[in-house]
This record gives sequence, C-alpha cells and structure tokens, in this order.
Amino acid sequence: MGRLILKGVTRKFNGFFAVSGVNLEVADGEFVCLLGPSGCGKTTLLRMAAGLDAPTDGELLLDDNKIEGVNKECGFVFQEYVLFPWRTVKGNIEFGPEVKGMQKEERERISQHYIDLVGLKGFENHYPHELSGGMKQRVGIARAYANNPKLLLMDEPFGALDAQTRNLMQGELLRIWENEHISALFVTHSVDEAVYLADRVVVLSARPGTVKEIFDITLPRPRVRTSPEANALRDAILKSLGAEIKRAAGKV
Ligand SMILES: Nc1ncnc2c1ncn2[C@@H]1O[C@H](COP(=O)(O)OP(=O)(O)OP(=O)(O)O)[C@@H](O)[C@H]1O
Ligand SMILES: [Mg+2]
Repeated sequence: MGRLILKGVTRKFNGFFAVSGVNLEVADGEFVCLLGPSGCGKTTLLRMAAGLDAPTDGELLLDDNKIEGVNKECGFVFQEYVLFPWRTVKGNIEFGPEVKGMQKEERERISQHYIDLVGLKGFENHYPHELSGGMKQRVGIARAYANNPKLLLMDEPFGALDAQTRNLMQGELLRIWENEHISALFVTHSVDEAVYLADRVVVLSARPGTVKEIFDITLPRPRVRTSPEANALRDAILKSLGAEIKRAAGKV
C-alpha cells in the first residue's frame, strides 16, 4: 500500500503562505503529476510528504498514518543529482539498505537488481563524476527504489536532461513504476511530460499554492505523445496553468 492524503495542508513561512489548504490524494499505485507556476509551493509540498518539513496547518497521511519526522516509506529524487561523490554507483544505491542494517549479500542483490533495471550494468564501480547527467539521475532513481518505498516523490527529476534523454528516462520510469507497483507524486514544469506520465495531473494556483484543477489522463500506455487526445489534454492543461503563470507574474 502507498496511499498519500493531504488534508488542508498549509505552510506559512515568515508571515507569508507558500501553500494554503491543499487537499489531495494519491491512491495506492497511482501516478500523480503536480504542475504550477514557479514559487507556488510544489517543492514545499513534496518536502512535507517526505517528512523533511511540516505543515503549519493541516496534515499529511501515508496509509492512514500521520507523516511526522523523516518519512522512511518514501523515496525522494531531487532535481539536482544529489549523489554521494565518494561512493560508487553501487555504494550510492546500497546506502539505504546499509542504513537499515541489511547484510552485505542482501544489499548486493538489491543494488544489482536496480542497477539492471535502470540500465547501468557495467557501471557498478564508477563514481558520480564519471557519469553523464542522465546516468546520475538513473542512480538517484535506483537509490530511491532500493529503499523499497511505498511512495516515490520526484521533484523535476528530468529537468536538466536533453529532450531525447528525457523521453527515454520517462519511458524507463514508467516501466519501473509498472513493475514495482509504487505510488508516485511527480513535480514537473512540462505539460508534455505530465500528459505522458500521469494518471492524474494536478494544476496548482499561483502562490499561495492550492489545488486549482485536476485532469484525469485515461489514455492507454504506452502513450503516443502526438495523438489528438494527448494534444487536446495538453491544450486544456496549458490553458489552466497559463492563467496561473500570468497571475504569478502579476500580469492579471
Ligand atoms: N525554507 C524556506 N524559508 C522561507 N521561504 C521558503 C522556504 N522554502 C520555500 N520558501 C518559499 O515558499 C515559496 C514556495 O517555494 P517552493 O520551492 O515550494 O516553490 P516551487 O513551486 O517548488 O517553485 P519552482 O517551480 O521554482 O521550483 C517560495 O516563495 C519560496 O521562496
Ligand atoms: Mg521547486
């Protein structure tokens, strides 16, 4: 199980509201994308779901348990590649299992499984500085998966990649997500990416972030990015998001 519920989640920083009264549910095994103007509180929401920050009002629940303190049931993938530079690919992926006190053999079985899954076979003993951006991001994803999370939290994980690598990584992510049956909350600035990946796309309003509109994406996978249905959804989402981006820029 991995059902995330946000109930009236509000976060105030030094007198201003970053997010306000956010109600949202990510069902078990569901893939939800968050879109919203810069500064509307997407990272703040993800950090609270990871237990790295706490709401000033409202609550977050994972499988009916209140998230308090670092949420060990989730895997977090950041926008930048936050790998341990002194650890190899294998060492980075085994970090979580190591912290959990898992024996060497079991750790190695897990890291090898995810190294194969993300296509890094042969790079086990490479250090982060010896890898490309796409490869580093794959290590980050494998590391998140190696923790056996119920919920995957991803903050613009492919933002820094070129378009082609990004498309490739999206396909790989869906393959892993389908294999492992994990819930995902994924932040992106790309409407195209959201329509390709998500079961539901949540558009947040300009700050203070609140849920503005939710789009169900029922297109069968693998999705054709240029299908008329995908195009129509993209247009509708862009319209909703565009209005908020204008608002955030003070143009409305
Ligand atoms: N620790 C903090 N202390 C004070 N203000 C903060 C803190 N973290 C975030 N904020 C503020 O909260 C608001 C929301 O920030 P957040 O990083 O969640 O936005 P975002 O939607 O992720 O933006 P982007 O799309 O640019 O990544 C911003 O105005 C930001 O300055
Ligand atoms: Mg952010």
